[in-house]
Amino acid sequence: MSKALGSKYQIETSEKASEYYEIVKDILDSDVVKEMKQFKHHYSTTCYQHSLNVSYYNYVVCKKLGLNYKQAARAGMLHDLFLYDWRVEKRRKGELPHGFTHPKRALKNAKEHFELDKREEDIIIKHMWPLTVKLPKYPESYVIVIMDKYSAALEIGSHLKSKVASFYRHAAAKN
Ligand SMILES: [Fe+2]
Ligand SMILES: [Fe+2]
Repeated sequence: MSKALGSKYQIETSEKASEYYEIVKDILDSDVVKEMKQFKHHYSTTCYQHSLNVSYYNYVVCKKLGLNYKQAARAGMLHDLFLYDWRVEKRRKGELPHGFTHPKRALKNAKEHFELDKREEDIIIKHMWPLTVKLPKYPESYVIVIMDKYSAALEIGSHLKSKVASFYRHAAAKN
């Protein structure tokens, strides 16, 4: 069962999330995307959960704005399909840091497994803009730039909240 962080709707079963689920179901069910569950991204959040957060909020925001929410949701789920632990993988000599290089790697992996159109490709490859210098071509690509940061902030916030809660639990147990 999956849920975007901060959302109360269970993706697979909630009526409210059913349209979203229909859009991304084949991606969520694929082995290559499930592989992201093995890699930690922001603290305790896995790459899979982070991608689900970005994908879901892309969908919500793009739908509200009258943009292409289907492609935003699908590309959101694939935007970080780089498939390695960026915190332990050593950079090759002369290679730019992960923040600059991973959109390309994610796009390459995504194209190997899914049919993507130009808009979805742009959403994935530009999601780290302005690190990836070229301007996004579509409004949905700007939305992911913001939703990616928003999701990371939620994930870091949730990690800190659980750290503080465990600190107080331990302190209370000692007294
Ligand atoms: Fe990324
Ligand atoms: Fe991301």
